[in-house]
Amino acid sequence: MSGKTNGTSFELTDRASGRSALLPVRNGTIGPAALDIGELHHDLGVFTYDPGFGGTAATESRITYIDGDAGVLLYRGYPIEQLAERSTFMEVAYLLLLGELPSARQLQQFSASIRYHTMINESLLRFFNGFHHNAHPMAMVSAVVGSMSAFYHDTTDIHNPRHREIFSHRIIAKIPTIAAAAHKHSLGQPFIYPRNDLDYAGNLLHMMFAVPCEAYPVDPVASQALDLLFILHADHEQNASTSTVRLAGSTGANPYAAISAGVSALWGPAHGGANEAVLAMLEQIGTVDNIPKYLAMAKDKSSHFRLMGFGHRVYKNFDPRAKIIRAMCHKVLERLGRTDNPLFELALRLEEIALKDEYFVARKLYPNVDFYSGVIYSAIGIPRSMFTVMFAIARSVGWVAHWQEMISDPAMRIGRPRQLYTGPVRRDYVGVEQRG
Ligand code: CMC
Repeated sequence: MSGKTNGTSFELTDRASGRSALLPVRNGTIGPAALDIGELHHDLGVFTYDPGFGGTAATESRITYIDGDAGVLLYRGYPIEQLAERSTFMEVAYLLLLGELPSARQLQQFSASIRYHTMINESLLRFFNGFHHNAHPMAMVSAVVGSMSAFYHDTTDIHNPRHREIFSHRIIAKIPTIAAAAHKHSLGQPFIYPRNDLDYAGNLLHMMFAVPCEAYPVDPVASQALDLLFILHADHEQNASTSTVRLAGSTGANPYAAISAGVSALWGPAHGGANEAVLAMLEQIGTVDNIPKYLAMAKDKSSHFRLMGFGHRVYKNFDPRAKIIRAMCHKVLERLGRTDNPLFELALRLEEIALKDEYFVARKLYPNVDFYSGVIYSAIGIPRSMFTVMFAIARSVGWVAHWQEMISDPAMRIGRPRQLYTGPVRRDYVGVEQRG
């Protein structure tokens, strides 16, 4: 094969056959251009091979931009640092879904619509009784979100923009109610209904921690911290769970079922499950003296141990979300009067030691969004098994925004990757009596 480019297309020639393909170069507004290989198989009879999709743009998108080398994350063009400093989760949700920051009136209407949808059908609530008390909350959330498809199947026409809007608002509004119900089920406590006079994060804390026999004043430090964590987790372009939602949704499947697939994909420790795994790891390490032993394990290829909360497919310099969360840890612990937090101290030392280690430096492995988030969740009383559920609540906004973007694109096609087949070549069936 040989190739040449004129800037707008790339010509690839197979010298053996003399056939060539003209691959158009597609430019975004920022970031690397992409070679359009849609006709490659037709023209040259070959596929591209990219396990893990490290070099493949699966779609065009206008929602989120990441520059992994520079540590840049933009939602609809706005830097994450500015949104974290000045915005709210509801405003960010509006921005991600609709593309622009809302006016005061638009924000009020949007928030009111999300509040309006916070209750879930009582039958859906009864599903929780089918789960054992120690079921992982992510298993319950995935199942119950998927079950929403049974409630809203006939009434959801994915080609109707108003139906799509109602679906979006329902998911964002009801995921906290489902998450809190999963938590209450684990505790054996009564479910607590949403309170629509509270803001999004405050209402979640209320549903998770209030009991019917006592007043529960929402701690503003906790609800502000949660709101900020939700902003930071709201979207991250074509990550594994978002790509899962897109792929499932591309078949025309019920969108609630597609979101449930996203929750399942998020659960894994390489993705959203890392926040839970980080806390487990820090507890396992226990003291600063043990750090070298665990770092050696993380570097040992024969061990399955990885430094959880470290490394990222895209960020190769730093994860801007991790920087914000680390700074936030100091503030939150101070405001809660818990500056003496051994796990946070241990995490800081682990980061310091790992960042000087040749193995982590050479591979450009830095703390990611999940490294410090668990410290904050713990400090505000959220149990470890609920950490990834918190991530799912925030990411529901990104999933819905991407699903909307995909479905409303007239050029949408079913997602259908190809493969490099390495199995047996054609062979004839042999009867069981003739097999050795
Ligand atoms: N600890 C030890 N070694 C690591 C780690 C780690 N956390 N992460 C990557 N490496 C090594 C890996 O072994 C490989 O080494 P070598 O080149 O010698 O074979 C090299 O670094 C490249 O790693 P990779 O697995 O090819 O990278 P990837 O882009 O496929 O994986 C990752 C990215 C995030 C899955 C991975 O870094 C990882 O498993 N990190 C720990 C889990 C984690 O924190 N996940 C949360 C990601 S951020 C939030 C989210 O996406 O939900």
